[in-house]
Amino acid sequence: MIKKITIYALLTVFIENSQGQKSQQIAPLECPSLDSGDSFTQSEFLSRLANECRYDRLLLPTYQTGDVVYVHASAYVYFIQPAEAHDLNFKLHFLLQLRWTDPRLAYTLYSPKRSKIIGENVLKQRIWVPHLYMSNEQSSSLMGTDSKDVLISIAPDGEVLFSRRMQAVLYCWMNLQKFPFDDQTCSMNLESWKYNASILRLMWEKDNPVRLSSELHLTEYSLMDFWTNESVVRGDIANMRLGGAGNYSALKFTFKLGREVGYYLMDYFIPSMMIVAMSWVTFWLQADASAPRITLGTSTMLSFITLASSQAKTLPKVSYIKASEVWFLGCTGFIFSALVEFAFVNTIWRRKKAVNLKKVNSKYILKSTLTPRLARKELQKEIQESSPQLSKSRSCSSLQQEGSCNDPAGPGYNNYLTVHSFPSALNLPTITTQSFDGLMGSPSSKSHNGSEDSDEPPKRHTWTTMTPQEIATWIDKRSRILFPLMFIFFNVIYWTFVYCL
Ligand SMILES: *[C@@H]1O[C@H](CO)[C@@H](O)[C@H](O)[C@H]1NC(C)=O
Ligand SMILES: *[C@@H]1O[C@H](CO)[C@@H](O)[C@H](O)[C@H]1NC(C)=O
Ligand SMILES: *[C@@H]1O[C@H](CO)[C@@H](O)[C@H](O)[C@H]1NC(C)=O
Ligand SMILES: *[C@@H]1O[C@H](CO)[C@@H](O)[C@H](O)[C@H]1NC(C)=O
Repeated sequence: MIKKITIYALLTVFIENSQGQKSQQIAPLECPSLDSGDSFTQSEFLSRLANECRYDRLLLPTYQTGDVVYVHASAYVYFIQPAEAHDLNFKLHFLLQLRWTDPRLAYTLYSPKRSKIIGENVLKQRIWVPHLYMSNEQSSSLMGTDSKDVLISIAPDGEVLFSRRMQAVLYCWMNLQKFPFDDQTCSMNLESWKYNASILRLMWEKDNPVRLSSELHLTEYSLMDFWTNESVVRGDIANMRLGGAGNYSALKFTFKLGREVGYYLMDYFIPSMMIVAMSWVTFWLQADASAPRITLGTSTMLSFITLASSQAKTLPKVSYIKASEVWFLGCTGFIFSALVEFAFVNTIWRRKKAVNLKKVNSKYILKSTLTPRLARKELQKEIQESSPQLSKSRSCSSLQQEGSCNDPAGPGYNNYLTVHSFPSALNLPTITTQSFDGLMGSPSSKSHNGSEDSDEPPKRHTWTTMTPQEIATWIDKRSRILFPLMFIFFNVIYWTFVYCL
């Protein structure tokens, strides 16, 4: 029935006087004539052209032939604003222009002198327009202050140009693993709402489908690249597409944004490096200076956490670990271990008994300091039994008698064992000890050198005594070098990962 009526309505366009018995009630006789269309005003002509008796705006332009309707799209983007990262969206202001041909609206025959019909929203409500939607939109609206900014122009051959100015907030599922050294690709997905791809095909215009305003400014990002794609999306009963199953034509406009790291470097990375460096000041304080060393440790830790939490607030709570968090963990680790180093050194400082060491190197010092008390006592006993001389061995405190102990002996480990801190013996504490390898009876054998030592069976031990204070100072001095070196190492690894992977 409906088909008959529409066919009839169409016929009336050409045969004005034909009158069918059946359709008389529905399609009124007074279907306005299009003859001498040039004499009508634009709106009068349009109301005749798109009159209900000859134009059904619910039907596709090609409903008679069943051809595919090609809708060409282009966009002019004049504003992109990526939101704060934790919102995972961005705002886009653009002008979307669609172009298609509606043969029913071709008016060359009736109004040869008319070059164009231009109208706004009123015109849009009279003719068929494709229904597109943005599948990743959070919100969108037509823009316009007084009335919505919609513009339609119809060319004599029925080509319709439909422009609308829109703003849209679109989702962008950012991958923040490399934050803040990340690039983000965000896209605008346009899809056909009602008609499947066998009826309506969306296409980007051949050249420059998307143009960007030259005054486009992005605050936190730089626009690296953008491109467009045409595709189809599957629609079936499951995703409730009203047009039924089939492929739906879709357009995609993607742009790649690179985050500007300048802000993060100046406001996060460099300050946190300074805070970590500040925590090393503790190694230059005496091991029993608890108050200043604890204050330093805790205040650097607190200020770093404050700094980091202000950064973390801007980020979404994703489950994976981000580059900024690796940095956070690294720095926290350094500050924390500086504090732990103090606790360790201070504990040693407060010990009473001197410690006997097989050799003065990190392995034995740490071993002896980490040995539990009981085990240490047994070790002490064992040493005393094996070598009564050792109890007489002297040691000199670096803090008091630096000059008097600075033996001119060479750096070799021989009977007279001279220990000096890295990197050189200059002005650093020297611990001189007596050996008990049996050969040496007197302390005058200073000039023995390493080669002789190697002649000795290596099993003969050289024992050294260090006071707890000396050990504490020794650890502090090592830390002064070790912590910065490790931090530099951490930085090398971190920045390599960030920039090369
Ligand atoms: C989209 O288009 C770009 C460039 O035109 C191309 O490199 C990319 O592979 C396309 N993507 C898809 C999914 O077709
Ligand atoms: C939908 O598109 C896919 C690939 O783009 C194609 O393999 C498939 O046959 C299409 N389905 C229909 C119903 O057209
Ligand atoms: C597309 O939709 C039309 C009706 O709108 C339907 O007849 C046709 O079968 C659909 N095409 C596909 C591939 O499902
Ligand atoms: C000890 O070193 C000196 C020079 O430092 C050398 O002349 C001497 O031969 C060395 N002695 C032995 C036993 O190697």
